[in-house]
Amino acid sequence: MKKVLEFKQKKNNKSKIICLTAYSKNVAAIIDKHCDLILVGDSLGSVLYNFESTKKVTLDMMIEHSKSVRMGVKKSIMVVDMPYNSYRNPKEALKNAKKIISKTKCEAVKLEGGKKVIKVIQTLIKNNIPVMGHLGLLPQSAKNYKFKGKKTTERKIILRDSILLEEAGVFSIVLECIESSLARKITQTINIPTIGIGASAYCDGQVLVTDDLIGLNKIKARFVKRYSNIEKQINDAVLKFKKDVVKSKFPTKKHSY
Ligand code: KIV
Repeated sequence: MKKVLEFKQKKNNKSKIICLTAYSKNVAAIIDKHCDLILVGDSLGSVLYNFESTKKVTLDMMIEHSKSVRMGVKKSIMVVDMPYNSYRNPKEALKNAKKIISKTKCEAVKLEGGKKVIKVIQTLIKNNIPVMGHLGLLPQSAKNYKFKGKKTTERKIILRDSILLEEAGVFSIVLECIESSLARKITQTINIPTIGIGASAYCDGQVLVTDDLIGLNKIKARFVKRYSNIEKQINDAVLKFKKDVVKSKFPTKKHSY
């Protein structure tokens, strides 16, 4: 709870909040030093399992990946996505959120939606389970992957939902693929941190899928910036290993018993 409160207070800090995803221990351990929040996102469905949508991600998958991530996260707050169909009503949500927290020792859960899931969110928070909200493009229910907030009615709904989520007690909200001026309006209106992904620099912080930013996942989305080409580095290392083995240069005596 202490980490969650500290995170919430970052709203008023001058420095931006840094968030990234992780699906395993080794990546989590590297990024932990630089992050405020590490999310075990259900994006792992498409990134690791080639699922067409996140709908096929199960609670067990989220728990197993999160158990691995937990071993790498020391400093950041660790948040786990509640997968599709794991929070259809308050009772189901509470049972599954409790399971996620007890098995993974994460600090909070994240779930998608506004007014429709407000009772679920209220129930979790009443039971001392910290919740992160997620508005805008909602991959678990999206019919297309277009950005949100072009139409006035849509803008009003998203702004209203952000206020409802804050009133329900979420400690932060992810804004995914939201038009810039709407992201600014939400960020100025609510008193909890907004974390953007494709939602402009007006948000209090940013999140990206780590595999996208390091060049391991070949996604072509406007909101992704690639900071590294890990695929090339792995390829080069494997080629060197192969060459050494073929030429009997590896293993040497140094690597043998
Ligand atoms: O599943 C995920 O990785 C996410 C982020 C894109 C915010 O929800």
